[in-house]
Amino acid sequence: MLSPFDETSQSLVKKYLSQEIYQRLKTRSTVAGFTLEKAIRSGVENVDSAIGIYAGDPQSYQLFSEIFVPVIRAYHGFAQGDVHCAGFSPVTLSDPDPEKKYILSTRVRVARNVEGFNFTTHLSLQERQKLEKTVVAALALLPGPFSGEYTAFDGAVAGGNIFNKGDRFQDAAGINSDFPKCRGGFYAKDKRFRIWLNEEDHLRIISQETSADLAAVFNHLYSGLGALEKSLTFARNKRYGHLTTCPTNLGTSMRAGVHIRLKKLNNNRTLLHKIVDEYQLQLRGTGGENTEVEAAVFDVSNKQRLGISEVAIVSKLHRGLEAIIEAEKNCG
Ligand code: ARG
Repeated sequence: MLSPFDETSQSLVKKYLSQEIYQRLKTRSTVAGFTLEKAIRSGVENVDSAIGIYAGDPQSYQLFSEIFVPVIRAYHGFAQGDVHCAGFSPVTLSDPDPEKKYILSTRVRVARNVEGFNFTTHLSLQERQKLEKTVVAALALLPGPFSGEYTAFDGAVAGGNIFNKGDRFQDAAGINSDFPKCRGGFYAKDKRFRIWLNEEDHLRIISQETSADLAAVFNHLYSGLGALEKSLTFARNKRYGHLTTCPTNLGTSMRAGVHIRLKKLNNNRTLLHKIVDEYQLQLRGTGGENTEVEAAVFDVSNKQRLGISEVAIVSKLHRGLEAIIEAEKNCG
């Protein structure tokens, strides 16, 4: 068989998976049994994939490095030989929206995978159960402001589950297997700190507030994460930092962003995109990835995650938001 990809595919995997590499990698399997065929299934089935590959375990990044390396370099602008630089500590930042006119909420999340388990693309029900048990035991040990309650999905949670079943990209990657079993959400008492269990990564750890206080949201995440790391060890390596299911999240695995209402820039998208690109930010619709902008509310967050520290991400987002708000004010 020649390339498994449709000719019309624009994905990074299609671009970099030469026939030669494909032939070399297709017979390999990680110790846990993850193969290239599984890694690229989502990209093969979804012709509109931008990336087209997921890892099944930490070893995937080494065993299939001939395809992961060019994809990671292209997506993250990461040069060969580069090593991720972490730098996570509390920050002080001014309020980016002192008039409280534009920013509706602020959210910072990171992804984490527990060491010793396969990623969500490659988990049997039994392994997922064991993982859920391990994480729930750790959550029960969270102190003071981070203590809270874990609710397992059973399809009947009041107000709906904290996250939905994954999209078709995740579905083809195996991430939805046995859904909603062993999925759940944890809310700290004050609701500012929450954790998704077994969505795209084992844990999505989120700090969120209905304010523009980026530093407070970031610092709260830092503390909560520190508390969690007392009882859980997460998968990481020197080169890529935190190891995640999707290569787009490697490094800090951090997405820091806001919901911001930009009535004028909504009608001047060229200018908005120019600023967003300048600060290497990403624009999403109101409901997140692959959604539309409603009532001029944009989701603005960092695009860079690898080869940049957590502190640098949040500082750059802060500067970008100030520039966006300035442009919104001056927009005719
Ligand atoms: N696999 C999809 C693609 O290649 C999504 C990648 C980024 N999004 C994510 N949720 N990891 O286009």
